Amino acid sequence: MSSQAPIVIVGAGQAGVQIAESLRQEGYGGELLLVGEEAHPPYQRPPLSKKWLLEAGNPTSLAIRGADALVRRRIELKLEARVERVNRGAGVLELTGGERLRYARLALATGSLPRQLTVPGASLPGVLYLRGIADSAAISAAIRRCATESCPVVVIGGGFIGLEVAAGARKLGAEVTVLEGLPRLMSRVTAPIVSEAFERLHRAHGVRFVFNAQVTELRAPQACGTGAAAGPAAAGHVATVHTADGREFAAGCVVVGIGVAPDDRLAAAAGLACERGIIVDACSRTSDPGVVAAGDCTARRLPDGRLLRLESVQNAVEQGKSAAAALMGRERPFYATPWFWSDQFDVKLQMAGLSQGYDQVIVRGDVAKPAFSAFYLRTGRLIAVDSLNRISDHMLAKRLLDNDLSPTAEQIADTAFDLHSLIKQSA
Ligand code: APR
Repeated sequence: MSSQAPIVIVGAGQAGVQIAESLRQEGYGGELLLVGEEAHPPYQRPPLSKKWLLEAGNPTSLAIRGADALVRRRIELKLEARVERVNRGAGVLELTGGERLRYARLALATGSLPRQLTVPGASLPGVLYLRGIADSAAISAAIRRCATESCPVVVIGGGFIGLEVAAGARKLGAEVTVLEGLPRLMSRVTAPIVSEAFERLHRAHGVRFVFNAQVTELRAPQACGTGAAAGPAAAGHVATVHTADGREFAAGCVVVGIGVAPDDRLAAAAGLACERGIIVDACSRTSDPGVVAAGDCTARRLPDGRLLRLESVQNAVEQGKSAAAALMGRERPFYATPWFWSDQFDVKLQMAGLSQGYDQVIVRGDVAKPAFSAFYLRTGRLIAVDSLNRISDHMLAKRLLDNDLSPTAEQIADTAFDLHSLIKQSA
């Protein structure tokens, strides 16, 4: 290992870009190389299941930074380069095609991968997953084709991705059925009252739901529609989805959104501690002092020993900053209230905090509209707030949670009570 070698960041997504930029802000003046396997310069992923799905426009509109921002900061971008192996002993990365890159210090920002459906027929043409720009463009094209040829879109999974895609498909004029394995929508992250509000919203826009759906097989025996050979009518293309209760759903295409798994393959193969993600501390340090990791690929060890996995832009950005500081030998622990969002039809869902383990949910606002927030309490303490079209509640919720302030159930339910007064009182 030589002091001449650059710091190399593997993964040119939100976390990777943040590490690179923060390294410059931390005063790192040496060589800096950002390696990404995709052809596009670093881009934002959240719009891929939302606005961009409808427009499938110019990829440059998704860019995380303008074309010359990285050049100005002397961040070298190496695209279409896939790292196959990390040789920590030699300080070398081995790339597909045999190229070797030396590194002085290493950052891993390898992201996450969609969980794969494993039933027979799951890899038929027309079965689509959402990960990158190319996937979003393919899903958008398939939905448009379904709309034109009057073939239904079947979405497997009623979580963030599935519901955002379902909303997009309806807007593009396709028939949509969502097959959800559990009894309600988004149950991983939200309370029944929020799931029900989204079910009503989607049904009002014509989305059909099947709950407790156990998909057993995808088949391509018969053509659906009468369109072009490359479309849903093509031989070998998925045409039906089958469930354990014997039902069959015609499908012009199938979009699978059944969760993501951290991509810790490189790290695990290199002997770094991994457990459903690359294990990092609050400063984004891995089990190797010379290697940091940030974003969706990580699992953070909490002081009480539990592991916390967050999949969000906020986490990628904040861990990216702490990872850069750690590479410079500084401790910049990251403890912030997590937040997430989703856009479905005309409803913006904003989530602050983590609701797992709640024992009480108090509603503030109008559930029917919907324009309300669900406040989650555990033993009387506020732990999270989900807001539907209540942007000011969301901003307030972050401040309450940051300051460990808990309104009472009565104060939450009473919309005439000014919750900001709690923050003013504590100041
Ligand atoms: N059949 C049907 N539904 C399933 C199956 C299955 N075999 N397996 C899982 N599901 C359901 C889950 O019950 C859940 O409701 O799929 C849904 C997956 O939802 P999420 O966990 O929210 O995952 P996803 O929608 O893929 O979003 C992944 O992308 O938007 C980002 O970071 C965000 O965490 C989110 C990630």
